[in-house]
Amino acid sequence: MKVSITTLPLSELDVDLLIVPIIEEESAERIRALADDLGSGLRSAAEDVRGSLDEAVMVYTDRAQAKRVVLVGTGPRAGMQVEALRHAMSNAEAIARKVKAETVGIVQPGVDLDAETVGQALVEGFMLSSYRFLRYKTDADSYTGAQRLVLHVDGEEKGSRRGVERGRIVAEAVATARDLVNTSPDEKTATSLARQIEKIGKKHGFSVSVWDKELIEEEGMGGLLAVNRGSPEPPTFSVLEWRPENAANERPIVLVGKGIVFDTGGLSLKPTKDSMDHMKADMAGAAAVVGAMEAAARLELPLYLVALIPATDNRPGENAYVPGDVLRMHSGKTVEVLNTDAEGRLILADALSYAKTFKPTLVIDVATLTGAQVIALGSEVAAVMTNDWPGAEERLGAIEAAGTRSGDLVHRLPMYPHYAKQLESNVADLKNIGGREAGTITAAKFLEHFTDYPWIHVDIAGPAFLSENKPYRPKGGTGFGVRLLVEFLREYADPRKRATS
Ligand code: BES
Ligand code: MN
Ligand code: ZN
Repeated sequence: MKVSITTLPLSELDVDLLIVPIIEEESAERIRALADDLGSGLRSAAEDVRGSLDEAVMVYTDRAQAKRVVLVGTGPRAGMQVEALRHAMSNAEAIARKVKAETVGIVQPGVDLDAETVGQALVEGFMLSSYRFLRYKTDADSYTGAQRLVLHVDGEEKGSRRGVERGRIVAEAVATARDLVNTSPDEKTATSLARQIEKIGKKHGFSVSVWDKELIEEEGMGGLLAVNRGSPEPPTFSVLEWRPENAANERPIVLVGKGIVFDTGGLSLKPTKDSMDHMKADMAGAAAVVGAMEAAARLELPLYLVALIPATDNRPGENAYVPGDVLRMHSGKTVEVLNTDAEGRLILADALSYAKTFKPTLVIDVATLTGAQVIALGSEVAAVMTNDWPGAEERLGAIEAAGTRSGDLVHRLPMYPHYAKQLESNVADLKNIGGREAGTITAAKFLEHFTDYPWIHVDIAGPAFLSENKPYRPKGGTGFGVRLLVEFLREYADPRKRATS
């Protein structure tokens, strides 16, 4: 989608559809004022349209160049969150799709948020809503969504331009992640995922090196190798790097993404009814990290970033690892496997342990790790946890704030020491499951054993994949985590803010 800004008079904007956000408190007077520019069709709407967030009304114009106008409610001005703008654009995009609009204008609303933030949110809302995964549709409609988006601004052109550009880059990076998740499992092996990552790196300017099975063996990644044993396909371990000259940090921030390209559960097989249906999405953490690296490179974030993607499928092959197996992990610790379906933590543990070699200032892992996360927080909010390395409170505050700003909502879970008891093993240093209680926390407690640096764990099992449409997130892979990471990293890169934290 092409995205730009314009300062032309509203009446001269030549688009198939013009989106006018309407703030609740000002709906009637605002619409009456617009009628002077856009034609009398609007005047009658002034009586009906309230500006509430679920409202979107289409009106035909008789004066302006724009062929149709959508009045889309944003909800009240008081306490308006940037999320309301994304949400409203999603409602408007649904109408643009219905009338097959190719070119769409958006009138910048007068809200108490800076022009950059507003521009970014409007573009994100529209573009993310417009996403469709059509790779396997034989008879796809020739209309695939709007091709051109123009933001109409008055004043503050510079900020708006920056915001609109960032919105486009972020939305495209989210689409990259969604595409990776939505790809059919039969063409999503660890190797093909790594090839995709290489392609994305080449296109957007970050480096990628892919380890093959031999190298993974040499490094002693016992967790990744064990999970891979039931698969006919070899595992991969991808190392991504974005290191600009003006990086604010000397030691990298390391991102880690769970790359289970399909999770059958292994010999501890998942029940085939329902619970396996979406397990192609078990690499959504990897997809989020790749999307974040794409955005970081394209936005030229002044940060030294490394990303690690351990990848394999988890299958009950004839050589598959079995309950009772004791693994020697990359860190040297031993793990008793009591459920082969708790595989994510095994491959992540090796990546977290390898991350130590970078002497990272911070490590963030993103993973569809536990069914318990979905039960705890549902399908729109991820769980975040951290270790008690100094600054834990600030880290949690920063990631939650990034969640609220970005729309990728997260909520913290506790990491009290006593939870670790659930992982004590009779034969090894620890076991890979912690029982029914507090499953999301005990999974994080398992990972904590492999960290010796400040660390944030993001369990995205719920929000990574949707079975029904939500505002600007069509069913399927959501790309959750891309916006969260980008927003967190942008804040981290700002030296003024960092000096005080
Ligand atoms: N990939 C699953 C977690 C998951 C479940 C993600 C539902 C998305 C939706 C993970 O590998 C898994 O199987 N976890 C087990 C762990 C258990 C065996 C300790 C789970 O949560 O049931
Ligand atoms: Mn599993
Ligand atoms: Zn899994």
